[in-house]
Amino acid sequence: MREWIVAGNWKMHNTIAESIALAKAIKEGTTTIKNGEVVLAPPFTALFSVGETIKGSNVQLAAQNMFYEDKGAYTGEISPGMLKDIGCTYVIIGHSERRKYFHEQDQDVNLKVKKALMAGLKPIMCVGETDEERVKGITRSVVDRQVKQGLNGVEKIDNIVIAYEPVWAIGTGKVATPAEAEEVHKFIRGILKDLYGSMANDIRILYGGSVTKDNIGDLIAMEDIDGALVGGASLKADGFLGIIKNISGKK
Ligand code: PGA
Repeated sequence: MREWIVAGNWKMHNTIAESIALAKAIKEGTTTIKNGEVVLAPPFTALFSVGETIKGSNVQLAAQNMFYEDKGAYTGEISPGMLKDIGCTYVIIGHSERRKYFHEQDQDVNLKVKKALMAGLKPIMCVGETDEERVKGITRSVVDRQVKQGLNGVEKIDNIVIAYEPVWAIGTGKVATPAEAEEVHKFIRGILKDLYGSMANDIRILYGGSVTKDNIGDLIAMEDIDGALVGGASLKADGFLGIIKNISGKK
């Protein structure tokens, strides 16, 4: 049985004080949730404070990115060891905003995934097609390339989470229909089965892109959707808690 995950990607939002308040509300709102995993990915500047706030709770800490070197002259970068040190269990890798604005390639994603695993972090590896690619009808080949290149040389898959985030659905309010999302999730699981055999049945594949408490119920009812990576709706406690409650009631 795959345990659901709801991860909140705060992106470049929230001061330390705002982060603490939001994390506290999420912590308090999830005390009665007994299954699944709740993960918060604040900006780097708030990782320590959020880590302190959620200590002793079921809420886990994630970073939004990392570099693939252990240490050295890489001004502005953060290593996997630093993320472990500050208490992260998860790290988001290859988010479409990293690919778009910071020109991350599948090879970078692959190096980061491997390095995160070596450091004992669990990567949430993001894949998904742009609107242009969708219109061209190449969603499957794009996702196939991103999954295969991102996982190139990865032998043990059990600590990896995949997030399917169609780029056209991120921050746009245009959520994929449950059937559209499930089709790609099933396709991704097929790729994972080719690569890893029956182990693929245990891999969590999250959906991301304009998830709210109102649309998550139908998405999570799909067989291969194992949770959500949430941006905008994770910035308010009631919206995020609503998503968690709707998932935990269904999976
Ligand atoms: P969104 O972002 O929920 O605001 O669409 C999702 C994401 O980028 O992970």
